Amino acid sequence: MGYKLGLIGYPVQHSLSPFIHQKFMENTGIQGSYQLFATEPNQLEKRVNELKRAGISGFNVTVPHKQAVMSYLDEVDTDAYRIGAVNTVVNDKGRLKGYNTDGSGYLRSLAEAYPDVLRQEKKALILGAGGAARGIYRALAKHGIQRIGIANRTKSKAEGLLDLQDLHTETEILSYSEAESSLDNYDLIVQTTSVGMSPEYDEQVISLNKVKPHTVVSDIVYKPLTTKLLRQAGDLGARTHQGHTMLLYQAQYAFEIWTGTHPQMESLVEQLEQRLRGK
Ligand code: ATR
Repeated sequence: MGYKLGLIGYPVQHSLSPFIHQKFMENTGIQGSYQLFATEPNQLEKRVNELKRAGISGFNVTVPHKQAVMSYLDEVDTDAYRIGAVNTVVNDKGRLKGYNTDGSGYLRSLAEAYPDVLRQEKKALILGAGGAARGIYRALAKHGIQRIGIANRTKSKAEGLLDLQDLHTETEILSYSEAESSLDNYDLIVQTTSVGMSPEYDEQVISLNKVKPHTVVSDIVYKPLTTKLLRQAGDLGARTHQGHTMLLYQAQYAFEIWTGTHPQMESLVEQLEQRLRGK
């Protein structure tokens, strides 16, 4: 029988999670299945209760349910509660507990690629202030990055992130034009909005003209693998960090929560790249 896993969201049919978790099962020898549960918003409570009754081992949660699902769980981990979103649920002997692995997955993917940028004295800029930004902000602050800028189209929404401030981080809220003109202050720039995602691949949220060489520019968008923003970053001598690695590492965290086993990435990054390129 093995682990019964899956994903709740709407729509979910194009999700890469079944592919990733199948690979994790193959490389750890863990038996199980990972199913997609397309769930319209008004069906969420019913779905969660059904899965619980059916003895699901755990599930991921994606758009549009990451906030709403919290009401139907028995417990929510502190970080997920502060972030205000759950993407991973484990069934612990009939009690459903929610976690958020987006920010921690991002941090792990960055630590794998560019560990030098995660030193305390480095300065980070987050572009965007949605759910993904909240998770990444909390993960960076918890890691000990002390100076973080947050820029967003709607400045008041960026100010909302300050309620995650139990972390003694010096946080500055900026407009996109302020961010553009002070870009050379930052060692790490993390793009968390959907701007630049296919089919709008010809857009970028800010210009990177003033980026310092060697700054790391991350984009959480992974379709296309190299966004317009990352192309500009590369052209200007910055180091680039693509979004599909965050996708893999948030999945790795979730798999660890469900099974207690750490899957190796081995050739998975490459395999996912091939899949995203349609090969
Ligand atoms: P997620 O949970 O994926 O982060 P979200 O909570 O809907 O999604 O947040 C979307 C983010 O992308 C926000 O920062 C949003 O900016 P606003 O707060 O100003 O709405 C940003 N965003 C989305 N489309 C955008 C666009 N066309 N230009 C600039 N920012 C955009």
